[in-house]
Amino acid sequence: MIAIGCDHAALKLKNTIKEHLASRGFEVEDFGCFTEQSVDYPEYALKVAESVASKKCDKGILICGTGIGMSMAANKVKGVRCAHCSDTFSAKATRQHNDANVLALGERVVGVGLALEIVDCFVDTPFSNDARHIRRIDKITQIEDKYFK
Ligand code: RB5
Repeated sequence: MIAIGCDHAALKLKNTIKEHLASRGFEVEDFGCFTEQSVDYPEYALKVAESVASKKCDKGILICGTGIGMSMAANKVKGVRCAHCSDTFSAKATRQHNDANVLALGERVVGVGLALEIVDCFVDTPFSNDARHIRRIDKITQIEDKYFK
């Protein structure tokens, strides 16, 4: 199950990504928002991040105007490794190296075609399981353990 969420600046792209993933056979849970009325992106970042951190959803996708606010908010949730990507190389690498479990995109930054390619890289690329990457991710977890309640 893939969790998806957006703010008012990214409703169109969220719906396009949702349709794209569904056409590829993925199950998607949509955490909103559902209209173009102005909303606060951290509320939607939190819903998606919690669904991934609790393992209710396997991965999450967050979209706002830039993708930046969403990624900042999502990364405050313990267990979430949210990668803000505007290119396919980063989307692939963050799965292989960082085992990113949430992707953040900016509707005002990337075009629809590129956004869908980034999404495909994110959902299709497995974690490398390489010992050096596991060690580094463990060190991220140690930082969480030190600073998160
Ligand atoms: C909304 O105007 C905008 O600030 C938001 O979508 C996002 O880009 C924040 O990081």
